[in-house]
Amino acid sequence: YWYHFQEYNKRINTSTGENDSVALNFLKLYKQEIPSELEVKAFDVSLILYAEHDFNASTFSARVTVSTLSDFYSGIVSAIGTLRGHLHGGANEAAMHFLEDIKSEDKGEEKLRQYFKEKKLVMGFGHRIYKNGDPRSIIIKEYSRKLSLTKSGNQNLYKVSERIEKIMINEKKIFPNLDFYSASAYNQLGIRTDFFTPIF
Ligand code: COA
Repeated sequence: YWYHFQEYNKRINTSTGENDSVALNFLKLYKQEIPSELEVKAFDVSLILYAEHDFNASTFSARVTVSTLSDFYSGIVSAIGTLRGHLHGGANEAAMHFLEDIKSEDKGEEKLRQYFKEKKLVMGFGHRIYKNGDPRSIIIKEYSRKLSLTKSGNQNLYKVSERIEKIMINEKKIFPNLDFYSASAYNQLGIRTDFFTPIF
């Protein structure tokens, strides 16, 4: 509602279908059209995968805040502020910013090698717990691939992502986490990049 109001000065109808899932409802309101079954499934799966996220930095922040006997709302605010950082929930947006201007796989490789030279972190890679690969990444990657084959998909974005993944694994032994392919999946769902972290 806020997106359409603030961006297009339009007040949208927010009533939902009786049997709409959270994913279908979100995409319907956001896109203002009926999304495809694949789009709904991809988004639904991404929400489930993001929910699978145990004792992470934002949860830790929330616990610290409420342990001072501060209130519940302050705990949530602390958590949101922590989640926003690029090393945590903000990584999906940062991964998209890395990928968005890359026109080909070779250009992607060039950019990645420049990052290596400058010893920069590649967002959407690495995980404190999943050192040998994030099992959630395999699932969201498949949805990103499926979306890339649709009319509104972006095969170049998917192929560039795959090349980056291959080099990171082969040369650095660092695997993509959930955020890396979530970036291309959300982008192909037509979601604006600055919405990625709030969705998480
Ligand atoms: N890109 C490049 N190098 C990376 C890297 C990345 N994304 N993630 C880790 N490394 C390197 C580190 O530079 C370090 O190298 P060094 O030993 O030469 O200094 C080594 O791998 C170990 O890194 P470390 O920071 O100890 O790993 P960690 O388990 O403590 O950190 C993260 C985990 C998630 C904070 C880290 O991988 C990261 O910053 N990733 C990018 C942000 C991201 O995608 N966050 C979402 C997480 S779900």
